[in-house]
Amino acid sequence: MLNPKAEAIALQAAALCAADALRAAAGDIQPRALVILGSGLHSALAHIEVAASLPFTDVPGIPQPSVEGHSGHFIFGHAGDTPVLVMQGRLHAYEGHSPATLATPIRAARLLGADTLFVTAAAGGIAPGLSAGDVVLLEDHIDLTGSSPLRGPNAEKFGPRFPAMAHAYTPRLRALAHQVAAPLGIDMREGVYAGMRGPAFETPAEARMLRTLGADVVGMSVVPEVISAVHAGMDVLGIALVTNIAASDDAGHEGVLEVAAQKAPALSRLFAGILSRL
Ligand code: HPA
Repeated sequence: MLNPKAEAIALQAAALCAADALRAAAGDIQPRALVILGSGLHSALAHIEVAASLPFTDVPGIPQPSVEGHSGHFIFGHAGDTPVLVMQGRLHAYEGHSPATLATPIRAARLLGADTLFVTAAAGGIAPGLSAGDVVLLEDHIDLTGSSPLRGPNAEKFGPRFPAMAHAYTPRLRALAHQVAAPLGIDMREGVYAGMRGPAFETPAEARMLRTLGADVVGMSVVPEVISAVHAGMDVLGIALVTNIAASDDAGHEGVLEVAAQKAPALSRLFAGILSRL
């Protein structure tokens, strides 16, 4: 194990090396946004014109995802005229990665010039009235992960020691998401995402606790990514697909993938519509 200072230097170097590898694959594409596709949503790319693809294994500092439904590719392409970098597959802290590793792809995208992070995720429904298949635009989050991608010496190259989180989910992008969703007939409410460490799903008592705390949906990703992006000065948009009701009998990874696969075509149009109008 490295001492904290050496670890911080190693992680900054990881982002620089990852950015170099991505830049080499990008051709003349300079991504405006990094898009992270959630569990089972890898096919939500249908409306993006793909120009180049690179497996995570070819990018230093980015471990291969171990979870089914996360293929582990970086894709360069266009949504309309907007150049984008898509992560088809994501990294979760419960896979054993250090929280700081989760910041590496976001920092690499920032180094390539991306100013926006668009996170998508499968989530469990907490708020009354939600059902599987509902789409929730994230307005805020509650960090219950017990860690932070920013723990350790601050990566000064990317951002401040104490990033402000009061406007993490960019209001302008939320307004844009509503404008795109309405004509597509996608009913999208706003909600608060509770970020849990996982990988165990919630108990009924935990689901009740999350409702009391003010959460609308719950998941095991998003939060470290959003914190990394805000730290690096990026705008953020987050959309969660409710794949199950938290702590219900249908809370399981197979059900999550099934609901995500069903909704991917509609979400694909929504994601591309938003990205094309960034
Ligand atoms: N809990 C946590 N994460 C999840 C869930 C859930 O019920 N569904 C999809 N991701």
